[in-house]
Amino acid sequence: MPPEQSNGFPPDLLIGIDRSARRGLRAQLEAGLRGAIQEGRLATGTLLPPTRVLAGDLGVARSVVVEAYGQLAAEGYLSARQGSGTRVREVAHARSRPRRAARADPGPVVARFVSGVPDPATFPRRSWGRHYRAVLDSTPDPQFSYPDPQGARELRRALAGYLGRVRGVVADPSRLLVCAGFAQALAVTCRVLRARGVERLGIEDPCFGFHREMVLNAGLEAVPIPVDDDGLRVGELRFADVGAVFVSPAHSYPLGAVLSPARRVELVAWARERDAFVIEDDYDAEFRYDRTPVGALQGLAPERVLYGGSTSKTLSPLLRLGWLAAPAELIDELRREKFLDDMASGLFEQLALARFVESGDLARHLRRVRPLYRRRRDTLVAALARWLPEARPRGVAAGLHLYVELPEGVGEAALAHAARERGVHIEEASWHWADRRPPLPGAILGYASLSEGAIERGVEALGAAYAAL
Ligand SMILES: Cc1ncc(COP(=O)(O)O)c(C=O)c1O
Repeated sequence: MPPEQSNGFPPDLLIGIDRSARRGLRAQLEAGLRGAIQEGRLATGTLLPPTRVLAGDLGVARSVVVEAYGQLAAEGYLSARQGSGTRVREVAHARSRPRRAARADPGPVVARFVSGVPDPATFPRRSWGRHYRAVLDSTPDPQFSYPDPQGARELRRALAGYLGRVRGVVADPSRLLVCAGFAQALAVTCRVLRARGVERLGIEDPCFGFHREMVLNAGLEAVPIPVDDDGLRVGELRFADVGAVFVSPAHSYPLGAVLSPARRVELVAWARERDAFVIEDDYDAEFRYDRTPVGALQGLAPERVLYGGSTSKTLSPLLRLGWLAAPAELIDELRREKFLDDMASGLFEQLALARFVESGDLARHLRRVRPLYRRRRDTLVAALARWLPEARPRGVAAGLHLYVELPEGVGEAALAHAARERGVHIEEASWHWADRRPPLPGAILGYASLSEGAIERGVEALGAAYAAL
């Protein structure tokens, strides 16, 4: 242990003494110690070095330190007692607190508008636990081995029924693949397409930036196809020279556009004509607030569309459970890629989800959380109109986030920074554009995990941050 630490006083007491300065050494030392106490760098009760030791460290006469300590004791910053040394006093430290807070503490968190994550407080712990326990109790010993790479038959059966009923997906259990979230479904699909000779994949512009990275990581070229208020501009595929396309027809990310009926038909016609595949990301379609749900594209062309979904928005992304309903001709290749990735998904979670779906608990859970998210969405839209009327909200009809377009010239990063200083976290939008340059600056506001009060306060603070830019 270094000798100065064994003394019990701060080994890193940083007091700068400038011998060339006109200000005297004693005054400099006093100011340095006073400042350190006021900023909280020297906490209440801290034992200061004996005068002789500090004088030696600083290369000054001992009397300089004695006088400085004496002056600070007289001001109430230090207490000196015979035999117990010189310590920082409570009263001095308390006086310094407001200054310290103003300087270093970013202040309390008002609202974190995190996109894409459901409210953890709504996770159905009790019923999930019940199903999980039942699975644990009833799984026979011979099943304690590697599960089927394609997914547990019980889960595929449950999902086929659920997706057919709720999303209009044509899903036979033999064509379902269970994955570690949609992320793995996308990764294995890209690899299968690549192995079949696809080099260029059309992707929505904007799209979830992480998905673009995954496509590139699988060795495919990601060809941006613009999205407008009717979803992907399907007509542009004819000039894009792509072998497959990746879309979110029910709710594009992050803009929240819905693929129009005419474009759905056009997209399916393009895929059939080109013998091409479409990857459908149906990530948050269960949350649709103002209109009747839009069915899955896959129902129009099950032999051309790979339909993907997951529990990340309905339950929690921590489960890492997702699925693909694939054309029959692809399922063996997909199964092989999944096997090569991680051999299989965990069996207990799969069986728990199967029971959760089959028992009606998933439907019950969704009936419970939908009105909650809807109210939060309404609060956010109203708060934006009140506190930030310059922002144009988009994609508000569905999902767990909304997109706000900001007036030209507003710096996304500057706004995010100013908001953070007021305790508000927002996501900048530009990462999701292929060239990182949205036509207008934007921000993504996830609202699912925030109370209505936090949303109101958060948007008020965001409005203040905007006004201060
Ligand atoms: C656009 C989009 N699709 C899908 C997902 C779900 O991904 P996963 O199932 O891998 O969690 C997300 C999650 O954030 C998303 O933003």
